[in-house]
Amino acid sequence: MKYLLYEEKDKNVGVLTINRPEALNALNSGVIAELQTCLAELAKKAEEHSLRCLILTGAGEKSFVAGADIAEMRSMTVEEGRAFGLEGDKVMEALEDFPCPVIAAVNGFALGGGLELTLSCDIRIASTKASFALPETGLGIIPGYGGIQRLSRLVGAGFAKEMVYTTNRIKADAALSIGLVNHVYEPEALMTEAIALAEKITSNAPCAIAAAKKVANASVGLELSKSTRLENPAFGACFATEDQKEAMAAFVEKRPHSPFTGK
Ligand code: CAA
Repeated sequence: MKYLLYEEKDKNVGVLTINRPEALNALNSGVIAELQTCLAELAKKAEEHSLRCLILTGAGEKSFVAGADIAEMRSMTVEEGRAFGLEGDKVMEALEDFPCPVIAAVNGFALGGGLELTLSCDIRIASTKASFALPETGLGIIPGYGGIQRLSRLVGAGFAKEMVYTTNRIKADAALSIGLVNHVYEPEALMTEAIALAEKITSNAPCAIAAAKKVANASVGLELSKSTRLENPAFGACFATEDQKEAMAAFVEKRPHSPFTGK
């Protein structure tokens, strides 16, 4: 892979780094294509539970991802623009539907398509150096990777529309105050904290985490009564797993449970 780095950490945690620092990790067609391939490969590991939490970050000190590649988009036709958007959408959907949780560790600029990438992750944490914006309307376009929709769902339509219409860049503390990120850390602590959060997640039963993610995603936009009906079969299915039997037996027998196997 030319633009991606992947590292496996202890406790079934993986770190995927977008590595194009000379362009502040901007998403050109090459980065997008590699993300599609790499996420498809990693999804297999996640299905088998050898990967149980993925951290997504950007290379360098300055930027998570500074958006889609403006130099590449500059001369696109309507059809090419639509195709470019669709390829990015596939990455966003691969992250959103990824079989285990994905944490965005936002180490710097998360602009345009970079912010949209974070919105497709399950959880966002940021360094104090991070900043967030949707600069697209200043470039004569709109966010093309689902940013308007996902940001509205996360922080509400009012803040989302303000960010889209103004292109204002907000800092990490403001992002925290509107719920765009869950936590803010000093830059040198960001990856340690991301890994600690990932390890806390991977200490729980992987089938249950995967089921919870599916139910949470499928529930978005549904009426409460419909979404609780979605939950019920998934809840029931957990009782077929060895991990459920072992965890509940261990509780009742007042002993630590054996490590979760994902079975
Ligand atoms: N596309 C292509 N190249 C980019 C880029 C982008 N989105 N962002 C940064 N770069 C490149 C710069 O062109 C520059 O390259 P050179 O050294 O070859 O000139 C290099 O990265 C470093 O950038 P700067 O010199 O501009 O660094 P800076 O510190 O002065 O500014 C910045 C940093 C404020 C992030 C500025 O680079 C910037 O505004 N970038 C564009 C951000 C943006 O508008 N993103 C949205 C893109 S549209 C989109 O994402 C559409 C969508 O929804 C799908």
